[in-house]
Amino acid sequence: MMKIRICRTFVLKFGSQRTLKIIAVLILFSTLGFHLTRMNIAENTQLKEPRNIDKDGKDYGGKRQVIPSYSENENLILIYKTPSWLLKTTKSSNFIQCEISNCILTEDTKLLRFSKAVIFHGRFLPEDAPFKYENQFWVFLELESPYYTPLNYSYPQWRKSFDLTMTYRSDSDIFYPYGRIVKKENNTIVPLNHIEIMSKKEKMAFWMVSHCGAISERDEYAKRLQQYIPVDIYGKCGTLSCTKNILKCYMELSNIYKFYFAFENSLCEDYYTEKIYFSYYKDVNMIAIVRGASGYSKYFPPGTYIDTADFKHPKDLANFLLDLNSDDEKYLAYLKRKNEYKNSITLAEMFKKSLCDLCRIVNKKSKTSKQIDIKEWILESKCYQATDLNDGI
Ligand SMILES: *[C@@H]1O[C@H](CO)[C@@H](O)[C@H](O)[C@H]1NC(C)=O
Ligand SMILES: *[C@@H]1O[C@H](CO)[C@@H](O)[C@H](O)[C@H]1NC(C)=O
Repeated sequence: MMKIRICRTFVLKFGSQRTLKIIAVLILFSTLGFHLTRMNIAENTQLKEPRNIDKDGKDYGGKRQVIPSYSENENLILIYKTPSWLLKTTKSSNFIQCEISNCILTEDTKLLRFSKAVIFHGRFLPEDAPFKYENQFWVFLELESPYYTPLNYSYPQWRKSFDLTMTYRSDSDIFYPYGRIVKKENNTIVPLNHIEIMSKKEKMAFWMVSHCGAISERDEYAKRLQQYIPVDIYGKCGTLSCTKNILKCYMELSNIYKFYFAFENSLCEDYYTEKIYFSYYKDVNMIAIVRGASGYSKYFPPGTYIDTADFKHPKDLANFLLDLNSDDEKYLAYLKRKNEYKNSITLAEMFKKSLCDLCRIVNKKSKTSKQIDIKEWILESKCYQATDLNDGI
């Protein structure tokens, strides 16, 4: 009884039975229409791919409904299976700061076919290459030396697929070094408090290293130096440890040490990694002893570091260091000169800069001529065997 009454009230409120029928039909059509619209959107999505990240690069999670929103003039740049060390950077990357900024970064491999450029990380090339679409730039990204880049790039499915290189080598299409040293503006140079700095420096040298037995034979070189001077070794290859953020470690250790080793794992041209760049960060008041391929002076101001290559034997270097160790004036001259310089760009910022370069290239070039034989290209790396251990003192 109750139910009927409610029902009647409802009918009364909404007019006659006929009205109800019309409403039902309307609902049916609108639902149908909604489905049709959705199908349209789905189709559009396939033609014009959606941007899958916010403009500010945040909140990529794939949970949000993707909305087709970028125009014909925008270029999608896909990072294929983003390496973990880049994840944080890619999340905060956009092209706003670029000279040419009409690019969008994505990590969604589903967008492969819509991507103007695809960045592959050389070290993590899977066995199978995806399909390469027409007019797509494939970019070979690698910051390690050839010795530590697995050979998958030489498989036929990869070997002749790349159009651009993005590496630490200065002859790359997109040069991606680990930093850049610049002279400080005169008025930004804060004079060092030499007395305070020297008062805490009780120790001579340390080396932080976790990759033991590298091809450059740096372990052997360090061992020979250790015959003449005390060297503390931090990290997996040593007995000491610093568990903080690595740059923080360098800052803190620079309070007590005068020198540290920035020995590269490979002796390859242009292969100068973050260790030497750390020396030019604020609050790192010690001098780097570098060992890598020749050519440091191309990137680092002479007199701000010590190059093992300038000494015939490890013993000569040891004597030189002992001399600096006992002569504050001489040692401080290095620190003072280094204080006139700084690293102007972090590795993460350098990646963003490289993306700007890529955006500029994909705008300018139509992909035609060059198809790199990446195996050949890598073989052109100028890498050397160690020659400073031959005489074996
Ligand atoms: C490189 O290729 C081999 C097959 O030869 C494969 O087993 C390996 O997983 C590939 N490397 C990566 C990083 O996927
Ligand atoms: C900075 O100082 C040096 C010498 O102290 C001088 O030669 C140079 O002209 C100065 N540069 C500027 C921009 O003032």
